[in-house]
Amino acid sequence: MIEVTRRDALVGAAAMLLVDQAVGAVPPNASLQGIAAQKGLRFGSAVAWSQLGVGGGSPAEPAYARLVEAQCGIIVPENEMKWQWLRPTPTTFAFDRCDAIVAWAARHGLAVRGHNLLWHQPKWLPGWLNDYDFGARPQAEAERLLTTHIRTVVNRYGTRIGSYDVVNEAVRPEDGVLYTTSLSRAIGGAEPALDLAFRTARESAPQAQLVYNDYMSWEPGNGAHRAGVLKLLEGFKRRGVPVDALGIQSHLITQGTGVGGHVLRLQGEWRHFLDAVVAMGYRLLVTELDTRDNNLPADITIRDRAVADYTRGYLDVTLSYREVRNVLAWGLCDRYSWIEGFEPRPDGARRRPTLYDSRFHAKPMREAVAAALAGASER
Ligand code: G3I
Repeated sequence: MIEVTRRDALVGAAAMLLVDQAVGAVPPNASLQGIAAQKGLRFGSAVAWSQLGVGGGSPAEPAYARLVEAQCGIIVPENEMKWQWLRPTPTTFAFDRCDAIVAWAARHGLAVRGHNLLWHQPKWLPGWLNDYDFGARPQAEAERLLTTHIRTVVNRYGTRIGSYDVVNEAVRPEDGVLYTTSLSRAIGGAEPALDLAFRTARESAPQAQLVYNDYMSWEPGNGAHRAGVLKLLEGFKRRGVPVDALGIQSHLITQGTGVGGHVLRLQGEWRHFLDAVVAMGYRLLVTELDTRDNNLPADITIRDRAVADYTRGYLDVTLSYREVRNVLAWGLCDRYSWIEGFEPRPDGARRRPTLYDSRFHAKPMREAVAAALAGASER
């Protein structure tokens, strides 16, 4: 564990304040969407579906709904458009939860992103699809299943969804090689399967932004993942596949305190990666921002400060690319973050990875995001 003191935290806070003053003050009481809009950006968040009163980061929970309405210009269903949720069987679609989110967004004037049309990993596909009998003409049957799925979803929402994560996480982080799924095996390879997904999405939604979304990040250990994503994006260009943008998930992981040093160390390779992506003509989106408070003590003041400073450093570098037009958090409130369930802290302290605490109070990370948006150049 890296040694850190409250004094370090306060010095960090003071340093960030100086930065804020240098780039112009964040207007008091301004919403994140309001600050973003002044720069030609849009701010938003994932939301979940639940029954009224159950909570779970859903618009059915009044306090959460108010927060999203107040701060966001765009939302994305956290799970409800995934095959595992939408496709109980090979012949049926369960649209009720996704419909409810899209309808709620429309009532509140919020744009919607679609996540996702193909999560290219067996682990995240429905069991029936992993075990599917593709019959005597497996390629034709797999292509029928994939294209029917994409057309049905995209046609249902029409112009109400302006941007889709068409393919999610197709690259293995350890070696940069593409995953294999039952669909890609039957279609004759991962690349033809992914290409088909994008081509079908473009045919059905010519107006929508089509995104490849992945979690290659700037932390150490992501080199093979980033290289694999670059290779995939190059292949899309070479084959004329209609992919408009790279979705950078941005599930960040703090590296300890002394955040300024980490940012300086990490930004070189990150810029190298982003330079290569934009040189190919892709737009960029931050699609799933949250920050895991690793290598930090349980003390909340210290932890929140380091998370905020790290997030700010990351956003300053990433938003320096004018190709970024959207910043979406993966949930706004610590109480509902997926991280608590997937990777609890070893010391048992509750995770604090989002902009608002479990009582919906703004944390330093919220101010860091606000300052990064306010400090971004106009686009
Ligand atoms: O709703 C059921 C509940 O009824 C059941 O009792 C419980 C028991 O496990 O499971 C609940 O469903 C879980 C669901 O989250 C809601 O909490 C699923 O098991 C769990 O797999 C699901 O995890 C989601 C995960 O993707 C897998 O789909 C997370 O909420 C969601 O935040 C996460 O999001 C992903 C993005 O889609 C892609 N990028 C990474 C990101 C974080 O992992």
